[in-house]
Formats: sequence, C-alpha cells, structure tokens
Amino acid sequence: MKDILPGEVERWRWVESVFHRVLRDYGYGEIRLPIFEETRLFQRGIGEDTDIVEKEMYTFADKGGASITLRPEGTASAVRAYIEHDMAHRPPPVKLYYIGPMFRHERPQKGRLRQFHQVGAEVFGLPGPEAEAELVEMLMFILRERLGLQGLSLQVNTLGDDACRPVYRAALKEYLASRTDDLCENCRRRLRTNPLRILDCKAEGCRAVAAGAPVISGHLCGACREHFDAFLSLLDGYGVPHAVNEHLMRGLDYYGRTTFEIVSTGLGAQNAVAGGGRYDNLVSLFGGPPTPGLGWALGLERLISLLPLEGGGKGGGVQKTLPLEGGGRVGVDERVYLAALDEPGRATARLVARDLRHAGIPAELDYLERSLKAQMRSAGSSGASAVVILGGDELARGEAVVKNLADGSQRTVPLTDLVSSFAPPP
Ligand code: HAM
Repeated sequence: MKDILPGEVERWRWVESVFHRVLRDYGYGEIRLPIFEETRLFQRGIGEDTDIVEKEMYTFADKGGASITLRPEGTASAVRAYIEHDMAHRPPPVKLYYIGPMFRHERPQKGRLRQFHQVGAEVFGLPGPEAEAELVEMLMFILRERLGLQGLSLQVNTLGDDACRPVYRAALKEYLASRTDDLCENCRRRLRTNPLRILDCKAEGCRAVAAGAPVISGHLCGACREHFDAFLSLLDGYGVPHAVNEHLMRGLDYYGRTTFEIVSTGLGAQNAVAGGGRYDNLVSLFGGPPTPGLGWALGLERLISLLPLEGGGKGGGVQKTLPLEGGGRVGVDERVYLAALDEPGRATARLVARDLRHAGIPAELDYLERSLKAQMRSAGSSGASAVVILGGDELARGEAVVKNLADGSQRTVPLTDLVSSFAPPP
C-alpha cells in the first residue's frame, strides 16, 4: 500500500480530471460504489476458480458474523447496483464509470500493489460490436491523445460464447492433458478447473506448451466469428491499431466474446495498463433481466508511472506539469444527438460522434438501429440541444440536417463543418 504525497497528488488530480471530462463527453455517469460487499458477490461474479477469488481477496467476518470482502474490482458491484437501482428500466445504453481503490492480496512487486486504484467504465444494454469498438476507441484516445502516453499496444481476442467455448475448451483440455509433465504445478491444477488460463501462464514450460495449443479461432461459431470480425473492422474504421492475441485470457471468469488489454513497453513484468471485455451473462447471473454488458478498468498507479517526464533521464526528471482540465474545450453547453436514417448514416454517426467528443462536445447516438421517431425521442430525453440527422440524399451530398431542439429550426451543414459549427475555434 502506498501513500500519495503532496507533489504527487496534483498529478493524480489532473489524470482524474481528464477521465471525468472525457467520460462525460462519451455519455458516462459517475457512480460511487461501496468499498466492501458481501463476499459471495465476488465469488459468483468473478468466479470461484480465479486467482482473485481463490487467493487474493481480503475477506473477513464483520461483527455480526457476515462474510465481507474489500472489493478487488468494480464490475461485480456495478452490476449489483445496476440491478438494485432498476437501471434496466432506463432506455439503453446505461453507461457508468467509477474511480477508486481496489484491494488484492497479491505478492507485491513493481506495478503490483495490495491497495491500488482503478478507473472503470461499464456499459449495459448494447449487444453489438459497435459498443466494444467505441469503448476501446475512447480508452485509446484518453491514453494517447489526452494523457500523451506512448509505447502502448492494444491486444484483442474473443472467447466465443456458451455455444462454441465448451467445444474449444474440450479440445484444449485434450491437448493439454497430453502435455501435463511440461506444465507448472499451478497449471496442472488449472487443467481441471480453468484450462483456458494456462494459455497466458508466464512460466517457461507452460509457454512452450501454449505455443502449440489449438486456438479459439478454429472453433468459433458463425455468430461469434461475425461479431469479432465486425469489431476488428470497426477498430480499423476508427483508425485504432490492434493485434489479435489468441492467448489473451484475462483473469476473471465473467467474460464472453470480445476481450482486450492495453499493454505498455514501459512497465516491466506487470505490463497491463488496462483490460476489459464483454460480459453478457453477468446481469442475469445476479438475478437481473438478461442484459448485455461490457467494460474496462485501468490501473492508475501504472498509468501515472508512465506519464512523460520533463527533463528526461531515468528517475531524474520531474513529471510534466500539464493544464488542469487536461485539454479539450471547457464549458461547452451544447449536447448533440446523432440520428441516423440508414447504414451509411450510422457509419457516419459513429465518426461524427467521435470527432465531437474529441473536441470536448458531449455527443450521443443510437446503437440499436431504431426508427427516426424513436431516436428523436431519445434525443429529447437525453437533454440534447441539437440533433444531427444523417442519411439519405443529404448524406450522399456530404451534408447533414441539424435541428435545433429549443426552437425547432433546421439548417443544412456540410459534414466537414459539423464539429466547428457546434464549437467555433477559439
Ligand atoms: P483487471 O485486468 O483485473 O480487470 O484489472 C484492470 C487493471 O487494474 C489492470 O490492467 C492493472 O492496470 C490494474 N491492476 C490490477 N491489479 C493490480 C495490482 N495488484 N496493482 C496495481 N494495479 C493493478 C478488472 O478489474 C475488470 N473489472 C475490468 C473490467 C471492467 N472488465 C469489464 N469491465
């Protein structure tokens, strides 16, 4: 555990302010979750066979005899809160984020603490790959553009779903069983409980075994293949570089389909800055209505250790003093809703939303291919001041119709001028 002293705290506040700003522009609302929960929430949510639940939780009986656990992560609590506060009845998506301490009884080393801090983002109600691509695009934008980090790479994978993962798991288990002698002790046990995790074990023998193991891509069902391919091409559309790593397994059991991790060359052995993925079964596992979910979390200690140093030099430099708000425009009160009439409109809406948000203008859009009427209703209830309508002849001409929701007036704006029409350059 670490104290954060004056002189360092300023950096923490600056980084946090960047997350607050950008997450707001992407439509996320902050949630403050309790520091401890009933133990079984994490046991069921994260999975009994994971390292976190088996070895790393700070669990104890309180004075009333209840078993409670200091939270090792935020997703299980966010899902509990989503159900408890009936957020399933809000129009999707519900987007939440949190910043705060997490606790894991791990062996301390560089970049690994027992009390550390995460920023996490969770999205409920969106089944499509668009939501995943947007989630990752946002994270890369914050890290690269707003915080100026270099040397990051994005690794992505799919774990298949309840239809195809069991088939893959069986094939993998069969292969691994034939190589038991080469596995570390931990992985011999995992062979029974959680064979997929063996693929990202760092022990030398296990890595050699993993190198020859069957891969998930050979076993995906049609729906999962299509979903993953769409996710990858959406990342291309955003211009976000990525590498598929079929050995990326993540340490939590709730994932299905897309997973991802951001690793940095500047971190040593504990090189993951952030990780996340899709967890479509978690809300129903906790007794809520079947609701797709996805999200990520990022380690603040690791991130802050990567911030560029002024004056260079290992250890000698001081971290750059950066403008407090972390860039972007301050005090824009426009909120824009992007409504799309057809597929070309939806593709344009995704990119315009990105550009508006990058310029510091909160923007929302439809992810569920709903009618224009339904989208206009969402725009009204989202508090938008303007709706940009994308599609049809206007879009073919490179234009969009912008409707002012306060007075009902409409104007036609070239797509290239859209962002500056909401926030004229200072
Ligand atoms: P995670 O990969 O366990 O995912 O943690 C996310 C990040 O927290 C890691 O990439 C790392 O930067 C940081 N972290 C984890 N453990 C430590 C530690 N002991 N010391 C310092 N930093 C650490 C999750 O927690 C999931 N809840 C992410 C998620 C959200 N998936 C979907 N939604």
